[in-house]
Amino acid sequence: MKKGIFIAFEGIDGSGKSTQIQLLMKKIEEKSIRCYQTCEPSSGPIGSLTRQILTGRIKTDNRVIAAMFAADRLDHLLNPIDGIVSKIEEGIHVISDRYYFSSYAYHSVDVPMDWVIKTNEESAKVLRPDLTVFIDISAKEAMDRITKNRFHTELFEKESRLSKVRENYLKAFELMKEEEKVLIVDGTKTPQEIGNIIWQAVEPML
Ligand code: TYD
Repeated sequence: MKKGIFIAFEGIDGSGKSTQIQLLMKKIEEKSIRCYQTCEPSSGPIGSLTRQILTGRIKTDNRVIAAMFAADRLDHLLNPIDGIVSKIEEGIHVISDRYYFSSYAYHSVDVPMDWVIKTNEESAKVLRPDLTVFIDISAKEAMDRITKNRFHTELFEKESRLSKVRENYLKAFELMKEEEKVLIVDGTKTPQEIGNIIWQAVEPML
């Protein structure tokens, strides 16, 4: 049986990933092709623990956080009940809102990127995306969208962090340009325009 394809969506917070994932799902389903939508952190038990760390309810070291995301990712892939790998084997296409490039970009603000890459090595061995779509917006644009122009001092800290996350994404894409297929789309275009660019890349793969 023909295997499903795996597409990962990436971008800093506020980049418009969710809108584009909805648009792409709709276009694929209109062709009567089966597609499974998922996200990271996953909805499994390791994912929910990871979300509690994200909300600050659980406090731990940055290396532990990065390792949690890596563990959640492996479970997301290999879980015998709803793991991505079993879907792909069944011929179902899978779209994930975030995958290992999120780890490379977000955790490398606090810990060395090569360590984060090493920690995720097994996931990369198990399943590399057939395509990673990166919706690129600046940290400033992201903050404007997130706060809708409300002024808050604490938010400046967040903007500089998002700016580092974006730089890390670009650095990781450059580092892995030989082995990864990445489509970088200008996230300031209209949702329709972005959707069309993504569709041009995805349709021939289906
Ligand atoms: P979520 O609320 O789903 O945000 P979004 O809608 O922007 O995707 O939370 C995901 C957050 O988790 C996001 O801020 C990025 C972060 N994250 C990591 O730090 N490392 C990872 O490996 C992943 C997958 C996400």
